[in-house]
Amino acid sequence: MSTTEIDRPVGLKLRVLHAVRLIIASVGRFFFSLYYGTEGEKIPPIHDDILKQSAVVVARKIRNKEITSVEVIEACIRRIKDVNSALNCFVEDRFEAALQEAREADALVRSGSKTATELEQEKPFLGVPFTTKDCIAVKGLHHTAGVVLRKDVIAEEDSDAVMLLKQKGAIIIGLTNVPELCMWWETHNHIHGRTKNAYNTTRIVGGSSGGEGCCQSAAGSVFGIGSDIGGSIRMPAYFNGVFGHKPSRNIVSNKGQYPIPESDLLNSFLGIGPMTRHAVDLKPLTKIIAGYNAKKLNLDEPVDVKKLKYYYQFSTDGPLLDPVDPEIISAMKMVTEFLKKQYQIDAVEKKIPLLRKSMAIWFSNMKGAKRFGHWIMEKDSVGKILFEMVKCMFGLSGNTFIGLITSLFDYGGVEIGSEKYKHYLKLREDLERIFSNLLGTDGVFLFPTHPTTAPYHNEPLLKAFNFSYTAIINCLGLPSTTVPLGLSSEGLPIGIQVIANHNQDRLCFAVAEELDRAFGGWVEPQHS
Ligand SMILES: *[C@@H]1O[C@H](CO)[C@@H](O)[C@H](O)[C@H]1NC(C)=O
Ligand SMILES: *[C@@H]1O[C@H](CO)[C@@H](O)[C@H](O)[C@H]1NC(C)=O
Repeated sequence: MSTTEIDRPVGLKLRVLHAVRLIIASVGRFFFSLYYGTEGEKIPPIHDDILKQSAVVVARKIRNKEITSVEVIEACIRRIKDVNSALNCFVEDRFEAALQEAREADALVRSGSKTATELEQEKPFLGVPFTTKDCIAVKGLHHTAGVVLRKDVIAEEDSDAVMLLKQKGAIIIGLTNVPELCMWWETHNHIHGRTKNAYNTTRIVGGSSGGEGCCQSAAGSVFGIGSDIGGSIRMPAYFNGVFGHKPSRNIVSNKGQYPIPESDLLNSFLGIGPMTRHAVDLKPLTKIIAGYNAKKLNLDEPVDVKKLKYYYQFSTDGPLLDPVDPEIISAMKMVTEFLKKQYQIDAVEKKIPLLRKSMAIWFSNMKGAKRFGHWIMEKDSVGKILFEMVKCMFGLSGNTFIGLITSLFDYGGVEIGSEKYKHYLKLREDLERIFSNLLGTDGVFLFPTHPTTAPYHNEPLLKAFNFSYTAIINCLGLPSTTVPLGLSSEGLPIGIQVIANHNQDRLCFAVAEELDRAFGGWVEPQHS
């Protein structure tokens, strides 16, 4: 490879294309702001204080008989009913079954057959309600992944992550919304419609765990579980001002997630992980869903944030990428200044040139044997896709417009096994080595989660590639946590991701907890 390729001056044709794209994006932004230039819908404040607490605290209160599991679940039900007409994040409930399980949990606590300490060890989340996205299987509930063809599919078994959480006492109360086939960063499909941001309903919640990010920000459940192959946990966590962790590759089982990754390589990109309002919940939840693999993460080993090495980069720095929003840059600086002031640590700025290739590396490495269209329509062909696009304009297609564009796009791109494909596989390996050498066992890399705050609905179509900041990290198999860092001048969440080397997830958690304490973490939507 090389540096030569990366440093090559950008050709005139590309520059012109870039300028045209920028103009379209700005003109688009103007029209979107005219169209959505309303207040949006307000959501009511959180009435039940228990919903502001971390999952760890809620669990302790249930064990210590300070509150019952039934009371916590009833609070979630009230909250979901309060906000869902405005937000449309929650798509299917199992409230009755959950309340029954809560009564059993409460009976176990009351019976005194186990001490609080024993319960903490055996069932650390006893009686704590959670939600997950409609692509992670929950026995008896729908498992559509937002695909109209699957609207009647019911999961016959729990996904591994859900099963492990149930074993530790947690109670699943329902499912949250996703984009069609979970492959876009705005949450909208033709089964459940569009999910709206609790901080401003004119904005997106991100995707694909968008319903989950929204449900967490609005405090509809005590914690959530998402999945991430290009940023699907971290982007929605960011747009909705909560924490989200994509674990190291091959740690958490992906069994029960739809679509099923087609190869070991793709499987290694996909991570199932927690989404929470409080950083302290990330570690214990990851420990549970990692199952047998948890020991590879040494999560009980203490981490001293004072002794870590900190690196940061403000943007992927690509010749054709637009700059990251100044408010996000400021948030990053706020963190590095905090490290300096609090611990006399000098974070080191990096400019890793290969990051410029993020999108090309992700797209090539993501190539599967089956085309995207295969998953979302009966028989895919270019003709069929174009036909569905026309139908879509009249509101007659089961597919979303972006789903169809992605299907079409998938006919192009590099071909598996081609020289170009191999080239990008190699670039991925090179970049992975750069990160591994840099981070070792004591380094973290601070990086934007996304270059802008939550765009208007539909606006991601004009900013299709802005998810490169999260996507590249999936290819590298690194663990990464999105950390919320307050609200922008428009009242929308901002934040950054904290990335560590393979199996060093505990560093991400330690830094996330430190920043949660220092900057306040999650802020209640519209009532800050
Ligand atoms: C939501 O965004 C719109 C459009 O930018 C803006 O006019 C409105 O004031 C915002 N609403 C809130 C609650 O901040
Ligand atoms: C991403 O974000 C920038 C703002 O920083 C925006 O102007 C632009 O349209 C988006 N860039 C791309 C590559 O889509």
